[in-house]
Amino acid sequence: MKPRVYVTSRLPPDVVTRLEHETVPAWNKESRPATRAELLAGLDGCIGLLCNINDRVDDELLNSTSASALKVIANFGVGYNHIDVTAASRRKIAVTNTPGVLTDATADMAFALLLAAARRLGEGERVVRAGSWTGWEPLQMLGADVSGATLGIVGFGRIGRAVAQRAQAFGMKIVYWNRTRLDPRQESETGAIHAPFETLLSQSDFISLHVAYGPATHHLIGKAQLGLMKPTAYLINTSRGAVIDEAALVSALANRKIAGAGLDVFEYEPKLTAGLAKLDNVVLAPHLGSATLGTRTKMGMIAVDNLLAAWAGKRPPDCVNPEVFG
Ligand code: 8YV
Repeated sequence: MKPRVYVTSRLPPDVVTRLEHETVPAWNKESRPATRAELLAGLDGCIGLLCNINDRVDDELLNSTSASALKVIANFGVGYNHIDVTAASRRKIAVTNTPGVLTDATADMAFALLLAAARRLGEGERVVRAGSWTGWEPLQMLGADVSGATLGIVGFGRIGRAVAQRAQAFGMKIVYWNRTRLDPRQESETGAIHAPFETLLSQSDFISLHVAYGPATHHLIGKAQLGLMKPTAYLINTSRGAVIDEAALVSALANRKIAGAGLDVFEYEPKLTAGLAKLDNVVLAPHLGSATLGTRTKMGMIAVDNLLAAWAGKRPPDCVNPEVFG
């Protein structure tokens, strides 16, 4: 017997092969998110759901008759704020994620956005492509120096620390803010110094966000926090869009209250807040943090490992609600 699972999106080939061998999968094979109706229909009779950020897994879904056999929700990704974990726990459904394997890819993306924003790569590319570049000139598109600048890292978990590692190689000064402070030995390894949140905001030349999203981090960066930043500073976000009040950010960028931003995630993803796309001082990416074939394959394999463990009656390795297993 193999477990019946519903997979809400296309996945890398090696993951597809494994799912076809080791489970009985039903699939949304379109290059768009599964609709609610498809999710409900596909889930019917399944013990496993392999889902992603596009799928709202809420109380209503979990309460539906389609979900009555469900034992495990394996999220393809580390952040799981789109899943009502409390509702899942109430029904003894395990929820799992894919920590670790996307740390480097996401840190690379944060750094790519930092460099692109600082050196005006998006703007430069648009000029060259439009054929409106008239040739080299000494004062054209002057950007900001990265080397020697201060990087403020908000949230110092796996990804935040991987960003610090990259920043060290760029000769940056690093400050971090985290709910819990690292011990002195760990701090010296990362080369980062702990700072109060407001101090980090006012002292940093670049600020990179790496907190998990939830009620405590909703609009962590709003008008007041943007107002504390240097007018020459840049804000980078690869965590979750709603960590920033996007309307406040559009206004700060438009009025040059800060110098620029690099965003991989958006408050109303895939929609953008009015005015954002018109701004030249922001680099925009379509949530590509973990988007390498190697990383996405590892994420898929971990999700399958978790599904199979739950099917075998074991506690899945990356279970975020272990209370389900009493
Ligand atoms: C995922 C992410 O690809 O893991 C996360 O939390 O943000 C991305 O890297 C995306 O969430 C798909 O579920």
